[in-house]
Formats: sequence, structure tokens, C-alpha cells
Amino acid sequence: MTDRSSEPTCILICLNRTCRKQGAAEVLAAFRQLDNSPNITYEGCGCLGNCGNGPMVLVLPARIWYYRVRPQDAANIVTAIVPE
Ligand code: FES
Repeated sequence: MTDRSSEPTCILICLNRTCRKQGAAEVLAAFRQLDNSPNITYEGCGCLGNCGNGPMVLVLPARIWYYRVRPQDAANIVTAIVPE
């Protein structure tokens, strides 16, 4: 079994058409404005296969999904996933 606790975290924000219409670009901007761990990266990505529930966000490597994310949710998501 691999210990993933030390792996860097990547937060993917779907920027494909449906999620973009639902405000995904603003969500990505909100994540990038956060001042937090250098071990977290934020990347826009293609369709995550959950169109209609967006903006969709996927946290890797933990594979935690968030749906209908609003810009004001960004800080709470990062707080929830970053180990103390
Ligand atoms: S367009 Fe975002 S999940 Fe498909």
C-alpha cells in the first residue's frame, strides 16, 4: 500500500462548456486567489463526466468530488482537504 499523505494535492476544476457556463472560470480564479500551501496546485481541465452538476471539482490524489461549487466555496474546500 502506498502512503499518499505526502503527495502534492491537485485540485482540478472542469472548464469544459457546461461547467464554464455555470461559472467554473470564476471558481478557478477563487482557488488561485487563496494564499495557502505550496503543495496544492489548481488546474483547469476538460470534462469530468458530470456535466449538469457543475461547476465540478476533483481533488487528487484523494479523488474527492465536489459539485455545484461556487467561488465562495473555495476556501472551505481547501480547509477540508489540507491535513492539519
Ligand atoms: S462540462 Fe464539466 S463535467 Fe462535463
